[in-house]
Amino acid sequence: MDEKVYELLNAQINAELYSAYLYMSFADYYEEEGLDGYANWYMIQAAEERDHALIFRNYLHDNGQHVSLGAIAQPDKTFENHLDPLLAGLEHEKLVTSLINAIYGAASEANDYRTMKFLDWFIDEQLEEEKNAEDMITKMKLFGSDARSLYELNQEYASRVYNTPSPLANA
Ligand code: FEO
Repeated sequence: MDEKVYELLNAQINAELYSAYLYMSFADYYEEEGLDGYANWYMIQAAEERDHALIFRNYLHDNGQHVSLGAIAQPDKTFENHLDPLLAGLEHEKLVTSLINAIYGAASEANDYRTMKFLDWFIDEQLEEEKNAEDMITKMKLFGSDARSLYELNQEYASRVYNTPSPLANA
């Protein structure tokens, strides 16, 4: 495997685990605010991010590559209101999209078609994750200041259930 493609794939394991850690910190904030539905949504998101890390890990192993795990940075966000984590979530997903695009670009340069194909799932997933993040922001802006509506939104997010991402389920 091309050295740069390898380095970026290995680094993505850490980036996905950091995402899990970041979203757990969002869940902690909402838990403390009494919004258990939002906390549930982000704990499931954290589980999905851990799964994303495992998908990259498995891909490196499947290709006979060494996996090198680094330290996970501390999530350092502080939140002033219920909208703040949602804004930080969208910003973070855009960053992750740029990381996935960078790996795709490196794979393309190295004519590594296998890795490009592997990344297709993540490219679709990032579209979904940015869309979800934007939707949560829109709803909070529209309804978040009304207690009854916020209660209903919280109920909606409480109903989210964990599903194993397909690349892991089929592994
Ligand atoms: Fe693993 Fe939220 O992207």
